[in-house]
Amino acid sequence: MEKMLGFNPPMGWNSWNTFTWDINEELIRNVADCMVRDGYLEAGYEYVVIDDCWSLKERDAEGRLVPDPKKFPGGMKALADYIHEKGLKFGMYSCAGTHTCAGYPGSFEHEFQDAETFASWGVDFLKYDYCFKPRHMNGELLYKRMSLALKNCGRDILFSACNWGFDNVYQWVRESGAHMYRSTEDIRDNWESIKKIAVSQLDKECYTSTFCHNDMDMLTVGMHGGSNSSFIGSVGGCTDQEYKTHFSLWSMMGSPLIIGCDIRNTSQITKDILQNPEIIRINQDAESRGAYRLQAEPQWFNAEECFILVKVLTDGDIAIGLFNLSDGQKELAVQFWDMGIPSASNKGLSLFDCWDHKELGVFKERFTAVVPAHDCTVVRAKLV
Ligand code: GAL
Repeated sequence: MEKMLGFNPPMGWNSWNTFTWDINEELIRNVADCMVRDGYLEAGYEYVVIDDCWSLKERDAEGRLVPDPKKFPGGMKALADYIHEKGLKFGMYSCAGTHTCAGYPGSFEHEFQDAETFASWGVDFLKYDYCFKPRHMNGELLYKRMSLALKNCGRDILFSACNWGFDNVYQWVRESGAHMYRSTEDIRDNWESIKKIAVSQLDKECYTSTFCHNDMDMLTVGMHGGSNSSFIGSVGGCTDQEYKTHFSLWSMMGSPLIIGCDIRNTSQITKDILQNPEIIRINQDAESRGAYRLQAEPQWFNAEECFILVKVLTDGDIAIGLFNLSDGQKELAVQFWDMGIPSASNKGLSLFDCWDHKELGVFKERFTAVVPAHDCTVVRAKLV
């Protein structure tokens, strides 16, 4: 069966984190080449998304959006064709307000026209931002408008709402028709930002599911400070261990996985993180159930720094992540009783370590792991 649009968390690459305003068609083509050549497409990443700053500052005489001819001399249709020929999908960006965050024309009062324009170019994904929204306008209604426009434009276009978690978005976004929604402020390429975003989404697992995924923002994995925006990159990046934890958190919590680094120039470690098949399999599990949080034992640990995430998977397996966001090494324990496996059941868990890629054996009652600072252990557990 062909998967329906937005069924699982979307996976792809987006230009914003690393390149912000400095984008052009050669860059996008090179990224598309790299996605195929270096195994990203095979690993599941399919969307190549151009973020803000792609258009001219004015619409044309008919009110249509115009790609900046200096950045995209071949136009968007040709670029889309190139991307499609590689087996990838093409994403673009607009905004619910009068202007995008960087001051280019937004789609306010042009929703249906713009949806048709995007369809005519062969766009498969639209990220829809929230800047310059007229104050009297209701944001919920604007997302409903664009959603209807996209659903009726004659092409399957995945709708990625991006209002940063404002206006209690989780209460109405599913009904609006969006396939994913940003729940947080913009990510920055540093550990504090990653930690803050992850902690802000703990215990909100009921707000993510198939067809409408909680988007915790694009990944900074592998950026190592390499953004041309001082806002995103000012603190100078993270360690590979921190990127591994970032990727594990986003995957376990069901976020879309949208790469933000320059994949053309990455280390093997970055690739191994972004393409870890076991972690991606957890993220892409068919039922897209949210991960619930358990207090890590012993109970005196700070629950926002040391916690266990548990995600029930379609085949009956359980993904278990032991996270240590604190600044010191900790031995964390998870009690099977707390996941619904009493000792009296005489059931144990056969564990596979998703980062070391090896079987750990069968455990009864509990599992403990020594987890270094800012690190994690993720296992896939089978009831035996
Ligand atoms: C922000 C958005 C970012 C990026 C940026 C472009 O509002 O959260 O992800 O799209 O606008 O200007």
